[in-house]
Amino acid sequence: MNRKGIILAGGSGTRLFPVTMGISKQLLPIFDKPMIFYPISVLMLAGIREIAVITTADDQAQFQRLLGGGEQWGLSFTWIVQQSPDGLAQAYILAEGFLAGAPSAMVLGDNIFYGHGLPEMLARAGEKIDGGTVFGYHVADPERYGVFAYDAAGRVSAIVEKPKKPPSSYAVTGLYFLDGCAPARAHRVTPSARGELEIVSLLEMYLAEGQLEVERMGRGFAWLDTGTHESLLDAGNFVRTLQNRQGMQAGCLEEIAFQQGWIDRAMLAVRAELFSKNNYGRYLLAVLERADQ
Ligand code: G1P
Repeated sequence: MNRKGIILAGGSGTRLFPVTMGISKQLLPIFDKPMIFYPISVLMLAGIREIAVITTADDQAQFQRLLGGGEQWGLSFTWIVQQSPDGLAQAYILAEGFLAGAPSAMVLGDNIFYGHGLPEMLARAGEKIDGGTVFGYHVADPERYGVFAYDAAGRVSAIVEKPKKPPSSYAVTGLYFLDGCAPARAHRVTPSARGELEIVSLLEMYLAEGQLEVERMGRGFAWLDTGTHESLLDAGNFVRTLQNRQGMQAGCLEEIAFQQGWIDRAMLAVRAELFSKNNYGRYLLAVLERADQ
């Protein structure tokens, strides 16, 4: 069964108020693209074309206006509303019908990944049909995330959500490859002290059964934070610096779709024309011209 994708783009974004009082956090720009383009690109690089987008009821129409049906990228979107932000694990319950027993890759709509070897890393995780794979990343401020605890042998022994005293500097990134049992397991998660169905509780079920693979993303990867005003601007500057230096785009959905063979030249040309007034469009035109050579 093909792995399906989930993008969780709910939440009220209170930490970014007043910026997010009128618009969903995941629609804010990271330099030249809406934030959600970057996590979509990760699912596409993992070869995933069927994607459920989970948003609040209020925000759904705006996401639909931006993303449409997905055919411009060879994707198909299913729209799911999260009535209240009751935790990340709830996404699997909401997406149960959509998944219909398929394994999944869920990515948080505000997580940005960039790095050499990312497609290979995603492919490894994607091939694993039973159990799950999550990714650990060394951060300066682990207390803001889910954090891995390790035993003396260096094996992951626990995963703790936003610990006051972090047991390690390795945070759980917002990218989760889980097998088809995830919704059934999510139903068994009980709410935490803060009243949420925590993703770490779901992951710990996999861990307890020896079914959780934890891959470390090394220092060559960028896992960018967008949770504060400062880090949001930093993420935009990172993308700008990288793109200007390399002359290549990060998170360019049309380019990935074209390379995957999911859209044809004609669609790429339509998209290039749509954005012809800026560098994004000019870049697409260059992708098209290169393909013709
Ligand atoms: C969530 C998860 C946390 C994870 C983080 C990654 O936290 O609960 O385990 O490390 O995403 O972005 P949130 O950003 O919702 O506070």
